[in-house]
Amino acid sequence: MDGSCQPVLWFTGLSGAGKTTTALYLLQRLKEEGRPAELLDGDAVRAAICRGLGFSREDRMENIRRIAYVAGLLSRHGVLVIVSAITPYREMRELVRRTLPGYVEIYARCPLEICEARDVKGLYAKARRNEIERFTGISDPYEEPESADIVIDTHRDAVESNVERVLQWLRDRRYAADWSICGR
Ligand code: ADX
Repeated sequence: MDGSCQPVLWFTGLSGAGKTTTALYLLQRLKEEGRPAELLDGDAVRAAICRGLGFSREDRMENIRRIAYVAGLLSRHGVLVIVSAITPYREMRELVRRTLPGYVEIYARCPLEICEARDVKGLYAKARRNEIERFTGISDPYEEPESADIVIDTHRDAVESNVERVLQWLRDRRYAADWSICGR
């Protein structure tokens, strides 16, 4: 490690829990501070470097493995990385934690009933009609994080205050722009 390793702020949570909304606002705040930062979003990554991958356990693992690979490259070159992906299985989160020295797990917690009631993309309704296989929370498990570094309650707290909590968490650990977290 060359000492310029940056945090990888990894949002996990159900579809519709508010991961991307929170991640985008966080990205904006970091850019305002002049800090190099990138967002790797599950939907966008799947359309770019993970085309052809589906939602079997193996494909989801491969999706996360590729995201972690790119996140690692960016992180080692001084870019703070934000990831927004369901990352539903404990096994994959543990793998990422082992792989990335800067890994910070942020659980975007929101009850399934609320995600389903919002149904921003209409996918929960389709999953209930069996038009989508293996939909997270309905016909495929979401294994709740037990050791997240930060938990945000997206149905209860405003985006701004959740983002402020993440920024404060970083400041408390002195994860400032010039602060290496590699080799700790
Ligand atoms: S992950 O499980 O591999 O981490 P990822 O975050 O990349 O998932 O993609 C999730 C997005 O894909 C959801 O927000 C939703 O838009 C879409 N999607 C399509 N089919 C499914 C499915 N069966 N389960 C979950 N999400 C799905």
